[in-house]
Amino acid sequence: MTYRIAPSILSADFARLGQEVQSVIAAGADWIHFDVMDNHYVPNLTFGPMICQALKPHAKTAAGQAVPIDVHLMVQPVDALAAAFAQAGADLISFHPDASGHVHRSIQAIKAQGVQAGLVFNPAQPLDVLDWVIEDIDLILIMSVNPGFGGQGFIDSALRKVADARRRIQASGKDIRLEVDGGIKADNIRSVADAGADTFVAGSAIFGKPDYKAVVDQMRAALAA
Ligand code: DX5
Ligand code: ZN
Repeated sequence: MTYRIAPSILSADFARLGQEVQSVIAAGADWIHFDVMDNHYVPNLTFGPMICQALKPHAKTAAGQAVPIDVHLMVQPVDALAAAFAQAGADLISFHPDASGHVHRSIQAIKAQGVQAGLVFNPAQPLDVLDWVIEDIDLILIMSVNPGFGGQGFIDSALRKVADARRRIQASGKDIRLEVDGGIKADNIRSVADAGADTFVAGSAIFGKPDYKAVVDQMRAALAA
């Protein structure tokens, strides 16, 4: 299993975002998780496609290798902003199915732009929609907090949902990443992996500490244990 760690820049220093992206990549980030909030679907407001475009040149390793930008849309409606983020350099775009009136169409619109598509499930949202679209997506993102803010506590029922999502991925036979978002720290990441996740978002756990690499290393050690 190749585990990926996706630091959420929601908890970064917004006055120095480019440097923060570079620092967290130097610390070992596999993806950059980019939380888009619209003050409508969720009760908070963050950043749009212009910021993604501005950060794109910073999303690479010191050796020049591109690091994927993992855009998590917490917006309604979905389609126009998804297209704008595809143009702005997003590598993966995920949206909440309950925020789109036409989930299949939104997925196809993202993929038509040459970007990978994901579906995000809130803590009380069932996975049923996967019955009909799992063959069309590249990523499933399970929320282990209610979306809108960093620094919240992990909701344990997400572990059961991760296990359910893993079973569905296995049954599909497809190569789909299974990401979890919210409340992940070095001391619980192992239990999330054991439930079946392979990709881990972490905001406050990384950006809340002075030494990002120390945290990423602790997370990788816990995953390797
Ligand atoms: C919450 C966001 C998360 C957030 C996670 O709505 O989707 O990505 O940054 O933050 P932590 O890791 O602090 O729970
Ligand atoms: Zn997120």
